[in-house]
Amino acid sequence: MNSTRERWASKLGFMLAAMGSAVGLGNIWRFSYVAGENGGGAFLILYLASILIVGIPLLLVEVSIGRKAKSDVVGSFQTLAPKKPWYLAGFLGVFGALLILGFYSVIAGWSMYYFWNYLTGQFFTVPEQGYGAAFEIFTTSTAQPLMWHAIFMVLTITIVLTGVKKGIELANKIFMPALAVLLIILTVFSLSLDGAMEGMRFLFQPDWSVLGNPSVYIAALGQAFFSLSLGVGAMMTYGSYLSDHHKLPGATVGIGLMDTFFAVISGIVIFPAVFAFGIEPDSGPVLVFITLPDIFSQMPFGGFVGILFFLSLTLAAVSSSVSLLEVPVAYLMRVAKWSRKRASIFTGMVIFILGIGASLGMGAWAGFTPIGQHNIMDSMDYIASNVFLPLVGLVMALFAGWHFSKKEALTAADLGHHPVGNWWYILVKYFAPVIIVIIFLNTLGIL
Ligand code: PFF
Repeated sequence: MNSTRERWASKLGFMLAAMGSAVGLGNIWRFSYVAGENGGGAFLILYLASILIVGIPLLLVEVSIGRKAKSDVVGSFQTLAPKKPWYLAGFLGVFGALLILGFYSVIAGWSMYYFWNYLTGQFFTVPEQGYGAAFEIFTTSTAQPLMWHAIFMVLTITIVLTGVKKGIELANKIFMPALAVLLIILTVFSLSLDGAMEGMRFLFQPDWSVLGNPSVYIAALGQAFFSLSLGVGAMMTYGSYLSDHHKLPGATVGIGLMDTFFAVISGIVIFPAVFAFGIEPDSGPVLVFITLPDIFSQMPFGGFVGILFFLSLTLAAVSSSVSLLEVPVAYLMRVAKWSRKRASIFTGMVIFILGIGASLGMGAWAGFTPIGQHNIMDSMDYIASNVFLPLVGLVMALFAGWHFSKKEALTAADLGHHPVGNWWYILVKYFAPVIIVIIFLNTLGIL
């Protein structure tokens, strides 16, 4: 095995980085808007089911493949299955990572802009035209959002090119607990708003009629994949920096539960406020950027909460984007023999360019809707999350279930002598692939 390959300093280091990857804009920004667009309660149930039945088992698959092969997403398949076509899924993963980071960085740029506006006091009180219009003016303009997107990419590139460890591990140790504490404080406050109960009903009282709509299933599955950072090879690449003696099952369950906690709790912050302030729950990707400032403006010390909140959100976004950038960087370092620095700068620039489309799609290019009614950003998100991620996830499940022998799969996942090993194997070999295929066919209208 390649002995010069980088390693995590400890299992805790891996856990923090993987949690940092999982917890990000997906838990707060994406979860709330996708739940809002897909009817709330019934979506939540499908989402939780996807996490438990498909997401966490596949997280274990992805990390265990990476740790066994000690390579990037393409190289791992090539190492474990030489001359077989499995590695093609690795390319889809690399492509998915580029696509996701392209728009993710734009949203993270918005978060930085909000942080800046709180820091300078400008968002302490409601702007003249209201937070909604202020947000709209900002996002539909050309230069400013692009500048924040660029700043965010520079930050991400800088961390990746110095090697993932020190900076990101430390930032995660401080800001993830801070984000959790802030969300809990915000929950209490949000629940005290007039009309809060309507929001809670929206999130927790399923409207079963929603389940008749096939798009809800793919949305829930896509959100589970996105939120757990599955299906692009980020977790595989992180797993490849892990030593063999660190046990995986407990770590993956911990990552999955932590990630779910952040999503559910953000829902409990956001939906009561959505209803209290008369915002439509299906307002789409702009949701949190309008509701949260409204909550803060009514809270005692709301301005400071705003500063801390958007700082934590930005850092949560950084730790996720670092893992996304690491996917193509690890690949290029191996294949093109580029230095980490060169690979990070080159890939970061490609991603910046991709993000320009996502950003301008909010304003100057708003008329361009690649799929259906979706603007460029939504289209990138939709294709990556609802097609690429589940597809690559499917291939990973098939790889562990059908390419590996049962013994190999269980040993790779450290479940060789564990009572849940059989259950996990059945889920991975049969259940997860069947569910993913059914949901795909259902979405395409074939079922
Ligand atoms: N899981 C991240 C979030 O919820 O914000 C997003 C993400 C990171 C998706 C890394 C995919 C990935 F590989």
